[in-house]
Amino acid sequence: MTTATAPGKIILFGEHAVVYGQPAIAAPLSQVRATAVVENSPAPGIRLIAPDLGTDMLLDHAAPDDAVAAVVRHLQAAASLTQLPDLTITVSSQIPIAGGLGSGAAITAAVIRALAAHLGLAHLLSAAWVSDQTYEIEKIHHGTPSGIDNTVVAYERPVYFVRQQPCNRVEPFAVARPLRLLVADTGVSSSTKIVVGDVRRQWQANPTVFDAIFAGCGRIVAAARQAVEAGDVEKVGRLMTENHTLLQQMTVSCAELDDLVAAALAAGALGAKLSGAGRGGNMIALVEGEEGETAVSASTIVPGKGGISSQGTNGTAGVSLNWH
Ligand code: PMV
Repeated sequence: MTTATAPGKIILFGEHAVVYGQPAIAAPLSQVRATAVVENSPAPGIRLIAPDLGTDMLLDHAAPDDAVAAVVRHLQAAASLTQLPDLTITVSSQIPIAGGLGSGAAITAAVIRALAAHLGLAHLLSAAWVSDQTYEIEKIHHGTPSGIDNTVVAYERPVYFVRQQPCNRVEPFAVARPLRLLVADTGVSSSTKIVVGDVRRQWQANPTVFDAIFAGCGRIVAAARQAVEAGDVEKVGRLMTENHTLLQQMTVSCAELDDLVAAALAAGALGAKLSGAGRGGNMIALVEGEEGETAVSASTIVPGKGGISSQGTNGTAGVSLNWH
């Protein structure tokens, strides 16, 4: 039996604009993970089990765009394997699906890691290779992914990311003071592909307006990187809220996200914004940590609708970004 995992992620700054070549900053959400387990099977064929996705089927019966089947077929081709052994592949995830926390990329990366290792291909498993393979699958599901999700999930470290040819720019950067983030779920699921496609249509209809919004996001990311490097946490917070305003102008926020942002700011957060594709999914808020308090207890994913709680309810997890 071979098991592998991959983390969720948050986008701290620059979602959507990153698709158009602007920089973005993202970080892994290591407390919530996708897990893949690969076992030899006595029964013929490759059985795919993903309870969170309601999947239990043989690979031969899976649709071409089935999340797990696409990974298995892609890996077989990428590794030039003529035949795969009889296997059971079980996938589970703590990351809310369609919530802007990178669940798709994490599931893909976990399956790639577990399957490659099980098939004796562990030598292929560099972070760069896992990121590249995950990107190929992201293209099936998302159309025009920027590449930021697969990068942050595969490398599991914060990234300053610029989509460019022939290869993306991925830069580590210094963090003077840890950032403590609260992650709150609207409970509204949202399709990244639909939201990204809708932004593209609006950009095509109003290129001047949307190019200006994207450039504004780029300026915020540049200022945010400097603020993070300088340890100016208050400024990081202000820039998050400014980024949310630009995301509203892109029409990718929604009432639930705006309510969570307003509630976080009213409760004293230094800044707040949606994270990911928007129109649902998760909000992130920069909160001040208390001396001696552990990172995870201070920042909490709140499942379900609406409220924010530093205690959390069921399934809580959090993120504190101690970047190096
Ligand atoms: O919703 P998520 O977690 O898949 O994040 C999407 C981020 C976008 O910038 C909206 C799209 C992309 O490919 O970068």
